[in-house]
Amino acid sequence: MDHFLYRDGALYAEDVPVAEIAAAVGTPFYVYSTATLTRHFKLFDDALDGIDHLVCFAMKSLSNQAVIKVLADAGAGMDVVSGGEYFRAKAAGVAGEKIVFSGVGKTVDEMRLALEGGIRQFNVESEPEMIVLDQVAQSLDVVAPITVRVNPDVDAKTHAKISTGKKEDKFGIPISRAREVYAMAAKLPGLKVIGIDVHIGSQLTDLTPFEAAYLKVAELTAQLRADGHEISRLDLGGGLGIPYARSNEAPPLPSDYGALIKRTFEDLDVEIEIEPGRLISGNAGLMVSKVIYIKDGEDRQFMIIDGAMNDLIRPAMYEAHHDIVPVIEPKVATAPATYDIVGPVCESGDTFAKSRAMAPVKADDLIAFRSAGAYGAVMASEYNSRPLIPEVLVNGDQFAVIRARPTYEEMIARDTLPHWL
Ligand code: LLP
Repeated sequence: MDHFLYRDGALYAEDVPVAEIAAAVGTPFYVYSTATLTRHFKLFDDALDGIDHLVCFAMKSLSNQAVIKVLADAGAGMDVVSGGEYFRAKAAGVAGEKIVFSGVGKTVDEMRLALEGGIRQFNVESEPEMIVLDQVAQSLDVVAPITVRVNPDVDAKTHAKISTGKKEDKFGIPISRAREVYAMAAKLPGLKVIGIDVHIGSQLTDLTPFEAAYLKVAELTAQLRADGHEISRLDLGGGLGIPYARSNEAPPLPSDYGALIKRTFEDLDVEIEIEPGRLISGNAGLMVSKVIYIKDGEDRQFMIIDGAMNDLIRPAMYEAHHDIVPVIEPKVATAPATYDIVGPVCESGDTFAKSRAMAPVKADDLIAFRSAGAYGAVMASEYNSRPLIPEVLVNGDQFAVIRARPTYEEMIARDTLPHWL
């Protein structure tokens, strides 16, 4: 469920007409709904009600300062994967003890930043990383709380580019070597082992792979405890998928996912952490764009819009489907037209949809990409020297620009000429 609905023939973001935002900020832009963000966070939080838990929002999916603040105010912790994300979380007022540091290639500088600013735990992904973290912690005279990310070799049955829990993936240490690696960690004075971490992929539409991975983690918990390790916290990653097409069957609900977690871990007396990103932010955002031209090709019609692959790369990168709807509600009886929906960037990959049937539109009409909140703005670039598009946050009947569109001057201001030019 989201808060982008037609009302009186026009698309609204909560209580604000999308066209009103377009008139104020220009197109293209992202718009996020506070109510959807907090609703989805609460669904997870409620799903784990009754057990000790923390829902850490995967900031990589959407990391605008205002969004972090909304979720942190609702009670969320944060899952960060870089010094930049850590910095963002702290700048939005998130306490160090609610920030989890994930990622396969943490640098010394990133470790230092987090150890100095405070951290809930590092999810360590390899032995070399463990050795470096131990040294950094010792040099600062602190002890770094860690989990080790295990790779359970489970097929998440999702797009190959976002599957992370198979042995051929770069993530975590093989679960078969876990006891060895924990034994090594226990000997390092700069580290304190507190738990286990697992994350098998993103956009999972079935609970079976989660169940397979989680059963392995439950078994490992018992083994590691028998080996004398303190396992008091399990980080179960993110990955629950969302329905990108309204016509599709919906993936499992956070409540089903929560029931699975409770069923698997309830008797283990552990604190549970999860790191959802997409399910919280995905349906909380639209990308709104304007039709520039309708162009007749030899055998098809191209809808050329002012948004492009640099603004929303998911269709080009993962062949991802996003529902695309006109901002003016089509009349029920309108016969659909069929379009290839493309952006202005100079490559054929700049295609959002092929042969997409939708209500006919014309130049200057507004259209909205649904489910664009997650991995939208955060993956944008300035390719073709197209300035990053603005982000807007709606809350009831108010809206605010939470990242302004840079001017061309601002865009090029980061370039500098060497002294010989
Ligand atoms: N935790 C870890 C360690 C992760 O690597 C990820 C996502 C998450 C949590 C959050 O997963 P989520 O709940 O959002 O599925 N750009 C791709 C998705 C990349 C996901 C990367 N890792 C896309 O647009 O589909």
